[in-house]
Amino acid sequence: MAAMLQPQIILLKEGTDTSQGKAQLVSNINACTAVADVVRTTLGPRGMDKLIHDDKGSVTISNDGATIMKLLDIVHPAAKILVDIAKSQDSEVGDGTTTVVLLAAEFLKEAKPFVEDGVHPQNLIRSYRTACYLAIEKIKELAVSIEGKSMEEKKSLLAKCATTTLSSKLIGGEKEFFAQMVVDSVISIGNDDRLNMIGIKKVPGGNMQDSFLVNGVAFKKTFSYAGLNNNQRNPSQYQSIVDAEWNIIYEKLDKCVQSGAKVVLSRLAIGDLATQVLGTCEIFEEKQVGNERFNIFSGCPSGRTATIVLRGGADQFIEEAERSLHDAIMIVRRALKNSTVVAGGGAIDAACCIIAGKSQLFINSYAKALEVIPRQLCDNAGFDATDVLNKLRQKHALPSGEGASFGVDINTGGIADSFANFVWEPAVVKINAINAATEAACLVLSVDETVKNPKSESAQGEAAASAMGGRGGGAAFRGRGRGMRRR
Ligand SMILES: Nc1ncnc2c1ncn2[C@@H]1O[C@H](COP(=O)(O)OP(=O)(O)OP(=O)(O)O)[C@@H](O)[C@H]1O
Ligand SMILES: [Mg+2]
Repeated sequence: MAAMLQPQIILLKEGTDTSQGKAQLVSNINACTAVADVVRTTLGPRGMDKLIHDDKGSVTISNDGATIMKLLDIVHPAAKILVDIAKSQDSEVGDGTTTVVLLAAEFLKEAKPFVEDGVHPQNLIRSYRTACYLAIEKIKELAVSIEGKSMEEKKSLLAKCATTTLSSKLIGGEKEFFAQMVVDSVISIGNDDRLNMIGIKKVPGGNMQDSFLVNGVAFKKTFSYAGLNNNQRNPSQYQSIVDAEWNIIYEKLDKCVQSGAKVVLSRLAIGDLATQVLGTCEIFEEKQVGNERFNIFSGCPSGRTATIVLRGGADQFIEEAERSLHDAIMIVRRALKNSTVVAGGGAIDAACCIIAGKSQLFINSYAKALEVIPRQLCDNAGFDATDVLNKLRQKHALPSGEGASFGVDINTGGIADSFANFVWEPAVVKINAINAATEAACLVLSVDETVKNPKSESAQGEAAASAMGGRGGGAAFRGRGRGMRRR
C-alpha cells in the first residue's frame, strides 16, 4: 500500500511521447515492412513503375528505388533508415536501391517472430552480422573476374552489366542500344573517374533511337561564335578610353591565338569579350536536334568528356531515362574498377542461401530472407514463386556446385543459367546491398525505445514556467530516463 502511494516521478518534459520494449521493436519492423511494400513491385525486368506527384503538381514516374524513396516523404523515424540506405546505395554504386530496401525489410520480417517470442535482439544482431559475413564470402567466391581481357572483350562484358541494369527500366526495350552508348561513354572518358565528365542533355521530341553519343561536349547554342579573323574590329572610331578597352580585348585574343584556339565562345556578342576558350577539337559542328540548335565539339584530346544527347517523348519519360542511364553509367564504372561480376536474376541471392543449414536458427532466417529477391522477381512477373524457388533450391543444392549461377528465367517462368544468359551484375552491387541492408536491419533491431520531444516551447513560456517553480509542483525534471512510466 505504501508503494502505491509513492509520488509519481516525471523525468521527461510534459507531452513527451515514448514507447519502448518489444512493442516498440515490432512497430518499427512493421513500419519498415510497409515502406518496402511500396517499392516491392518495382523490382526486376517485369517490375512496375510508380507515379508520384506532389502538391506543387510535379509528376515523377520512376522505377528507381532511391528516387521513389526520396519522394515518399516518410515520417516514421525507423523507416527513414531505409530511405538512407537506398540513398547511400545510389551514391555508392548507383544500382540495386530497390534490392537493398527489400533485403533490409525482409531481414527484419524474419526477425519479427523471434522478437515476439522474447529473443534478445542482440542475439539476432550477432547472428545477422555473422550471416552477412558468410554471404559476402560466398559472393566473393562465386564472382568472376573480367580482369586481363582485351578491350573489345571487356567492352562486351561491361555492356552485359549495363544491359542487366537497363532491363528493369522504362527504356528496357532499347537496352542494347543504350548499354552500348553507356559503355562507349565511360570508356571514352578514360581513367578520369569524375561522373560529371559524362553529360546528359535532354531534348524532348523524336524517339529513343534518335539519342546519340558525342565524344566531347554538346550544348544548346547559347553562344555567339566566330572564327578569329571575324573578331578584328576597327576600334579607331572610339575614344581613347574605348581604345584601351579594345587593347585589352586584343591582348586576350592574342592569348587565345597563342593557346591555339580555333573557336572562341562568348555568352554575349563576340565584340564584348571572349569569355571562354576551348582547346583544339577534331570536329566542331552546329546541328539541329529537335527544335534546338546544338553546338557539338567532338574529339577533344585534352578534355576527355562525353555527352549523351537523349531524345524521347514526354518530359517524365526523358527524366526517367536519364535516371536509368545514370544507374547504368555507375554500374559500368563500378564493373570497370572492381572487375568482378556475378549472376543476376536472383541467382547470387539463392546461392548465398547455402549459408543456411550449417549453423543456427537465426542464420537460417537470414538466408531465407535473401530469397526475397528471386521470389519478388517471380511475383512481379506473375510466375508461381513457390514453384520457381523450389526448382532454384534444388539446383543450388547440387553438391557439384554447378547450379550456383541459376536464377529466375524472366521469359519462361522457370529457371535458367543467368550467367550463360548474360544477366550479369557487378559483384560490388550485391556486396554493398547486403552489407547496407544488414547494417540497417541491425540498427532497427538495436532500438528499443523512441522518445519524441514536444515542440520546444518559446523562451517566454519557459521563463514563465521557471518563475512558477517548474511544472508539476516542482517535481518535473528534464532529461531522459529509462525508468519512466509509460504513457
Ligand atoms: N533479364 C533478367 N532476367 C532475370 N532477372 C533480371 C534480368 N535483368 C535484371 N534482373 C534482375 O532484376 C533485379 C534488379 O531489378 P531493379 O533494377 O528493378 O532493382 P534494383 O537494381 O535493385 O534497384 P534500382 O534499379 O531501382 O536501383 C536484379 O536482381 C537483377 O538480377
Ligand atoms: Mg536496377
